[in-house]
Amino acid sequence: MSKPRLWITRRLSDATLERAARDYDTVVNYEDTPGTADQLITASAAFDAIIPCHSEHFSANVAAQLHPRLKIIANHSVGVDHCDLPALAARGITVTNTPDVLSDATAELAMLLMLGAARHAVAGDRIVRTGAWDFWSPSFMVGKQVTGARLGIIGMGRVGRAFATKARGFDMEIHYFNRSPLPESHAMGAVYHDTVESLLGVADFLSLHCPATPQTTNLMDAARFALLPKGAIMVNSARGALVDETALLDALADGQLAAAGLDCFQTEPGGNPAFSAHENIFMLPHIGSATTKTRDAMGFRALDNLDAFFAGQTPKDKL
Ligand code: DGY
Repeated sequence: MSKPRLWITRRLSDATLERAARDYDTVVNYEDTPGTADQLITASAAFDAIIPCHSEHFSANVAAQLHPRLKIIANHSVGVDHCDLPALAARGITVTNTPDVLSDATAELAMLLMLGAARHAVAGDRIVRTGAWDFWSPSFMVGKQVTGARLGIIGMGRVGRAFATKARGFDMEIHYFNRSPLPESHAMGAVYHDTVESLLGVADFLSLHCPATPQTTNLMDAARFALLPKGAIMVNSARGALVDETALLDALADGQLAAAGLDCFQTEPGGNPAFSAHENIFMLPHIGSATTKTRDAMGFRALDNLDAFFAGQTPKDKL
């Protein structure tokens, strides 16, 4: 029997590509450029399966034009806001993602963002690098202490819980908002708030870990920034759509926020040019899951889902 034809839209890890080539009739986009709508539609007539990343957008318009040959989209991402799931379901296309395997890497990065934002990482690096470090003083680059501070987490899914676990190592007092309270075995003693507003009132540090959906677009807007304790620090390692970036700049300008750590932006790639002038924004280019171990695990998880599908089983991560 011939192997299913698989298109891999980006240069995934070597281990992933080797395994894919062994089990599938695989074509890889070694140029590593994001697949356009036209490329996705064209590929659907030539491939039974696609492994895309969050950079390929399966909108309702694309979904409507996909060829019936395409049976499964096995995403190499946990987030699936780039996929119109109802539109793809209407076309009978199975969609999977890669949960669990990137939770620790993403939580590590959120911790880096929180610490970097709290301790002036951007300005400090610049001062040393440019030779502008000409004195030391007790009031020089004084930051906000993380240890023992109150942390608010919005979204206690896998990544939120991984972040909470790491934050406990800093003796943080952890509060969270989630659609429903977690069982105590998962909550790790964190305090549940039944509204975002209630959580914000206590969050000296705030970390976002919820998916981008129509309901969470601009979740952090001007009214919500105003509810944070003055001088709070916000970290976003989830999706740029969660934050109203104009409101974020305003909150930084009036000191309501002391700093922010961002790994994702409303516009990617590129980010928000207005942020560049602010050294109290610690920015990274959407690299939450970018560790060697996690990239291999994401690729293998996507392939596990394909293997199950083509073996006639329900993939573990079918959405
Ligand atoms: C994810 O998996 O959703 C990350 O943002 C990387 O794509």
